[in-house]
Amino acid sequence: MQLTVIGVGPGDSELLTIKAVRMIKEADVILVPVKKEGSTNSTALSIAKPYIEDMDKVQYLYFPMIDCDENKNYVDTIFKGNGEKINRQLQEGKKMVYLTLGDPMIYSTFTYISQYLDGVQYIPGIPSFLNGAALSKSPLCIGKESMAVVNMTDDEDTIKQVFNLHDSIVVMKVCTNQKLLKNLIEQGKRNAIFMSNIGLDNEHFTTDINYLDEKVPYFTIGIIR
Ligand SMILES: C[S@@+](CC[C@H](N)C(=O)[O-])C[C@H]1O[C@@H](n2cnc3c(N)ncnc32)[C@H](O)[C@@H]1O
Repeated sequence: MQLTVIGVGPGDSELLTIKAVRMIKEADVILVPVKKEGSTNSTALSIAKPYIEDMDKVQYLYFPMIDCDENKNYVDTIFKGNGEKINRQLQEGKKMVYLTLGDPMIYSTFTYISQYLDGVQYIPGIPSFLNGAALSKSPLCIGKESMAVVNMTDDEDTIKQVFNLHDSIVVMKVCTNQKLLKNLIEQGKRNAIFMSNIGLDNEHFTTDINYLDEKVPYFTIGIIR
């Protein structure tokens, strides 16, 4: 038996693949990552909820939202424990799925426990930025252009180089370095659209650069052209 990791897409419950829905319905166990121990609060779960017939199948897995490099021993112990819990149930023959927001290959917490698992398969999901591009009618790349995806937690020099090299940039984790992002957009005289909570409650789109002066929600991306 192997674990199936499912990308549940960016927020809209109609944006899961047919295969993802089938696997969720057929599962014996539905694993959901949570940021706080004992919490049952999960955006991925609320997206997939219309397809879960029995909520007793849901198991919550604690994933600390702290710097994994700085707290390596602590987080490794938790990830290893999560891996063991999953492996035990796989060995019992249970069909298990793990729900993750957007696509599992883009900044997913799941990546940290994959090394502890006996077998894994992935079902892709629509990442936040593709949904944002579609909803805001912002093409990401046209003709000969290349496109980059930049993470604002990366170091400043790398982010600056990405801005110098690319016509079209998708910015993830905007909230972690808003000041640098604002400077780069203004210096390069770029067009930008910021999108928060795409497909969720409080969805907000704006082209106003001053949006970056106040702390933006964690679920915010930018498309810079
Ligand atoms: C840990 S990453 C997860 C990315 C996810 N795997 C994906 O494919 O989109 C979290 C970042 O993704 C972006 N994000 C994810 N979902 C979003 C949404 N619904 N609206 C806006 N941004 C979102 C934000 O930049 C957030 O800081």
